[in-house]
Formats: sequence, C-alpha cells, structure tokens
Amino acid sequence: MKLILLGPPGVGKGTQANLLEKKVQIPKISTGDILRREIQSQSALGQKAQQFINDGKLVPDEVVIGIIKNRLQKSDCRAGFILDGFPRTLPQAEALKTITPIDHVIYLKGNEEELIRRLEGRRTCSQCAKMYHVTFTPPKKESVCDECGGDLIQRKDDHRETISKRLQEYDRLTKPLLEYYQKQESLREVDGLASVEEVFKNLLMKVETK
Ligand code: AP5
Repeated sequence: MKLILLGPPGVGKGTQANLLEKKVQIPKISTGDILRREIQSQSALGQKAQQFINDGKLVPDEVVIGIIKNRLQKSDCRAGFILDGFPRTLPQAEALKTITPIDHVIYLKGNEEELIRRLEGRRTCSQCAKMYHVTFTPPKKESVCDECGGDLIQRKDDHRETISKRLQEYDRLTKPLLEYYQKQESLREVDGLASVEEVFKNLLMKVETK
C-alpha cells in the first residue's frame, strides 16, 4: 500500500500515520520528522531547513524532494509506505509522480479553530517523540512522558504566530493539491475532527474499500 496523508497542520496526519504504520507494518515517512532530526543533529541540511521551519514557511522543494527520493529507495519501502507531510506543493507532487505510483491519497479535513487548539496544546517527548495534547491526551505527570520519562516540549513552530503563518502557507501552496488529486480521481476525504479512533476507523475503511 502506497499512501499519501494530506491535510492542514494539526489535523492529525502524524497521529493517524503512527496508527497505520503499526497496523499495516509499512513505514511512515514524515518529512517534518526527518527535517527535525536533521536540525537536532545540526547537519548542513538541518541548518538550511531550520529558519524556514521556525518561520512557518515551507522548506524549498528541491530539498524535500531529494529527501524523499533517497528515502523511498530504501528496502523497507518495497511493500509500501505512508507519506505524512509530502507532497505539499504541486512541484513536489509532480516529482513524486516520476518516482513511484500511489494507491491512495487521503485528505484529512479540519477547521481552523480546531487546528489551532490542537497545535497550541501539542507536546512532544524530547526523547522518544511520543505525542500528547495538554487537554485531549495529557500525560499522567505534567511535562513528563508516560513511556520513557523524557521531558515534554512544545515545538517552536507551535506558537500562535507561527501557526497562523503555517496555515497561510497551507492555503497558498498545499490546498491546490486537493484539486490536483481530485482530477486524478485518487482523493478520498476523511473527517479529521472526529476522535482519533473514529478517524482511524474511517481511514481504514477508505483504504480497504478502494
Ligand atoms: P510537519 O511536521 O509535517 O508539520 P505539519 O504538516 O504542520 O503537521 P503537524 O505535525 O503540525 O500536524 P499533524 O497533522 O501531523 O497533526 P498531529 O497528528 O501531530 O512539518 C513541519 C514543518 O516542516 C513545515 O512547516 C515545513 O516548514 C517543513 N516541511 C515538512 N514537510 C515539508 C514539505 N513536504 N515541503 C516543505 N516543507 C516541509 O496532531 C496534532 C495535535 O492534535 C496532537 O497534539 C495530537 O495529539 C492531537 N490530535 C490528533 N488527532 C486528534 C483527534 N482526532 N482528536 C483530538 N486531538 C487530536
């Protein structure tokens, strides 16, 4: 199964991709996660990407296309993969088309008020990357990861001003992909505002009934 999870920041792409990865045993590939790891290790690529991410802007196409090209060549992608956060622009979608065919494009739909609530409340473990939400899925002990005891941190780009910029970038550069995939009749919509379990159930239904 080769699948794209499309949708605005905070709609739950990462959450659903994690569940799907466990269920169908194919790798989740998140360009956001890959870029954050590069920033943490202070690589040349990380240094290039950092300012864009902190400013709520998209990293240049050629950088992320290069990342995806390399990643999809790895042997664990042979049986399929889940793309979380790629493609995000028309040139990225066109580049992907030359790399591999795609079976499913799932669009998780949300609304701005809920996206902001989710992003502002998100906390991530600095050690194992497990995700929490201060209201919806809080840790047992404040600011401490239930799984590994690591510190929970707020992403730099999850502050209100940067969230607004990310949403604007989504509208400007990523939303056109909805029409792009609609024209190819491969886009299927799932309500991202339902509970995590409900969204997952609906997502599975869409990919199993194609
Ligand atoms: P990236 O990390 O991909 O961020 P994003 O797309 O903005 O998505 P998020 O990770 O913020 O949200 P999500 O939809 O995964 O939601 P999540 O499951 O975490 O990218 C970051 C940056 O990297 C970009 O801004 C850009 O600069 C750069 N970048 C990455 N890819 C790029 C590309 N292809 N091209 C160019 N630049 C790129 O959930 C959010 C919160 O909500 C969590 O707290 C979660 O617990 C909670 N939640 C989730 N689902 C539910 C639910 N159903 N009910 C209640 N709470 C929920």
